[in-house]
Amino acid sequence: MNKDRIKTELLVHDLKNPIAVIEASVNSLIRKSDRENSLTERQMRVLSRVLRNSKIAMSLVNDILEVGRSCEGIFNKDTFKCCEYITLPFIEIFDLIDPETAEKISCSENLAGIMEILADHNIRLNIDESLWSEELFLDIRKVRQVLRNLLSNAVKFRKNKINLDISLDDMNLVISIMDDGKGIEKEYQEKIFEQYFQLGDERNCCIRGHGLGLAGALVLVEDMGGMMTVESEKDKGARFTVRLPLGE
Ligand SMILES: Nc1ncnc2c1ncn2[C@@H]1O[C@H](COP(=O)(O)OP(=O)(O)OP(=O)(O)O)[C@@H](O)[C@H]1O
Ligand SMILES: [Mg+2]
Repeated sequence: MNKDRIKTELLVHDLKNPIAVIEASVNSLIRKSDRENSLTERQMRVLSRVLRNSKIAMSLVNDILEVGRSCEGIFNKDTFKCCEYITLPFIEIFDLIDPETAEKISCSENLAGIMEILADHNIRLNIDESLWSEELFLDIRKVRQVLRNLLSNAVKFRKNKINLDISLDDMNLVISIMDDGKGIEKEYQEKIFEQYFQLGDERNCCIRGHGLGLAGALVLVEDMGGMMTVESEKDKGARFTVRLPLGE
């Protein structure tokens, strides 16, 4: 690993400390209030949101360090239920735009409940009940990061609707995310996977971002031995499809 990468990773690594302090402080406030009932319901909701997001920040820091580790050939595969790969990215996305919905998703216990919450936001989740609870052997951090980035783009660039289809095909998990936004012209469909590339039209002028999500997601997908494709036509939305080979 070169010196600059090590220095950057150390900075990221050192972010863990302040995040852990935030988490511990909020936890102690919540515990104290549980005993003394000293916080209002609204204050508790805000603190729960801070706590949930400090956990997300911590897991992002871990993800960044994880990407470094996987560049060094270290993988972290394990077995998790399919729903565990999918729900957290939705919670993270909604925490930014609609925390009440994020809360509802994190409290929802079954697929039908989550489908209904998402449908209220014009997101159609299409997955078999049996696959939803099937155990899959994949690198959960990487899968969540890929899904989070594709979902965040779909949410940013859609006009109204998003369809998320999850299925199995041979020995692959197939994730397909489709939106009904402005789409991406053929000539840019390779470029969008390059670091810092953003389409320079009115679509992006009021939407912040760094042009990093797709480049990072592609690296992660390829690290897992998978592939990612995009199908789109101008003004006809975009469909990103990820195929991930499942381990034994
Ligand atoms: N679903 C989509 N519909 C239309 N254009 C898209 C879509 N997804 C990505 N793009 C285009 O590809 C560019 C690169 O996407 P990428 O996710 O890498 O960056 P970003 O979303 O702009 O910023 P970041 O992900 O770093 O927050 C976007 O800026 C946008 O122009
Ligand atoms: Mg993005």
